[in-house]
Amino acid sequence: MANPVKMSGIAMRIAAPARRISRVLHLLPVAFLIGVVTLGARPSQAQSKGPSVAEMKLGGLLFADKTLSNPQGMSCQTCHNPQTGFTYPISDVNEFLGPVPGAVPGRFGNRKPPTISYATYLPAGVPHFDKVRQAYVGGFFWDGRVPNLASQAQMPFQNPNEMNNLVHNTGSPAMVVAAVKAGKNAELFKQVFGEDVFTLSNAKVFGYITQAIAAFETSKDVSPFTSKYDAYLLGKVELSTEELDGLRLFTGSYTGRPGGKKYTKNAQCATCHTVQADPKTGPDLFTSSCYMNIGVPKNVNNPYYTETNQISNPAGFNPFGADFIDYGLGDYLYPLHGLPIGDPAGPDRYEIDGTFKAPTLRNVDKRPVPDFVKCYMHNGVFKSLKDVVHFYNTRNLTTKGEVIDYTKTNPFAGLVGKPIWAEPELISTITLVNAPGLKNSPTSSVGRLGLSPTDEAHIVLFLQTLTDGYFKR
Ligand code: HEC
Ligand code: HEC
Repeated sequence: MANPVKMSGIAMRIAAPARRISRVLHLLPVAFLIGVVTLGARPSQAQSKGPSVAEMKLGGLLFADKTLSNPQGMSCQTCHNPQTGFTYPISDVNEFLGPVPGAVPGRFGNRKPPTISYATYLPAGVPHFDKVRQAYVGGFFWDGRVPNLASQAQMPFQNPNEMNNLVHNTGSPAMVVAAVKAGKNAELFKQVFGEDVFTLSNAKVFGYITQAIAAFETSKDVSPFTSKYDAYLLGKVELSTEELDGLRLFTGSYTGRPGGKKYTKNAQCATCHTVQADPKTGPDLFTSSCYMNIGVPKNVNNPYYTETNQISNPAGFNPFGADFIDYGLGDYLYPLHGLPIGDPAGPDRYEIDGTFKAPTLRNVDKRPVPDFVKCYMHNGVFKSLKDVVHFYNTRNLTTKGEVIDYTKTNPFAGLVGKPIWAEPELISTITLVNAPGLKNSPTSSVGRLGLSPTDEAHIVLFLQTLTDGYFKR
């Protein structure tokens, strides 16, 4: 976070259990925690200097290989398409659902595919409590449950609601290995990992498959830094007056970098979607990989709510039906430590429940045609950037301008106007950022920002400068 003081209200309350959890985490080997196949040693032809060009190319081909699902027809790219900034490429699914269909007809996942762009720059490892940022940081997926891109890539192959390589309801690396061996990339696979690679154990070969995909994810094809914003940083182009205003609102600073002279207003976006105070520190990733509960409403059209049939989907069904609440980081870290998730009686209720990783904002507006609909947040509930920014600005307000105080037992009692937004998927007085809806308080970065419609529009225009492909590097 650019300014740790801003977060201190929430942080004070999550810091203690956070430390307890991270202490436990240090005692356990990561492979045990995550339950993934440990990668084999890298073969000699691709040592130390990072992945070879051939390995990245192979990874890209495997990423787009539709023979690696069961039934065939779905690849990683089916859900992470470059034309939409490596998110979902079917406009209607984004508009009417959010979470997306898997390889088996009728099955759906419970979350929206985030972009994979720039993921290679994100902090790896199990989410840990970061004292400077005063929040949990690190890991992949919306809930941080895998520590690096190679172990991440093992998951969709074996997820019953995604690529569905399972035998007796258990993930089967052997099925993926057999499909690669029989597929059109087998020759290149042997060139990269050795002629006799397919004589190795399934676990080893599966490790190479995911290693190659992770190598592709480190390539410039996935993270090119070719947006208008990058051109602006290089001095190749100026931002329009409106875009520059958006950047200044986003960072609260005239210079467009946190720490510069205070701008007229601060929309606080850079608190979680980081712009470096000093550009020499590293690229602007527009995320600090922190976990926060910003009060995203439930997506009533999440198809996962209907995914209740244990017979047709034994390994991936949703036992809670429409009552399902996504606890994000809480769903992952609490069970790991034998602690209850979302249990009102549990001592650690709310400490991290309902927090999700702040995604990068690079390519949030990348779409193949102007009327293509994208969706946003872990459950895809928002369908436009205009809505997203308006949400940040007004989450705690009613149509009559009253302030909703989520720290009250009944936050909606006595309100004359209607809440502008449906209530958060998980109301929590502890994790919900700015639960009381206070203005200008240390936690007021979400819910009541005091932006005008023009301010909101300019922030959207700025977000549109983050789309790659504006220039060639
Ligand atoms: C059916 C759609 C689907 C397919 C196929 C799919 N993904 Fe995903 N991907 C998702 C969803 C949904 C998430 C978020 C899941 C979560 O947070 O629980 C995700 C998350 C990710 C992330 C995490 C990004 C981050 O910032 O944490 C990466 C990386 C990724 N996928 C890569 C892949 C790779 C590699 C493959 C192929 C082996 C793949 N995906 C196949 C839907 C899909
Ligand atoms: C307190 C931290 C925080 C602040 C401040 C914040 N965000 Fe976010 N942002 C998040 C988190 C966390 C998510 C994911 C939440 C979820 O899915 O439940 C998110 C998601 C988003 C998304 C959706 C991206 C996607 O791929 O789905 C957009 C767009 C976004 N934020 C823009 C902004 C803008 C613009 C601002 C300033 C007006 C802002 N954010 C301020 C933490 C923050």
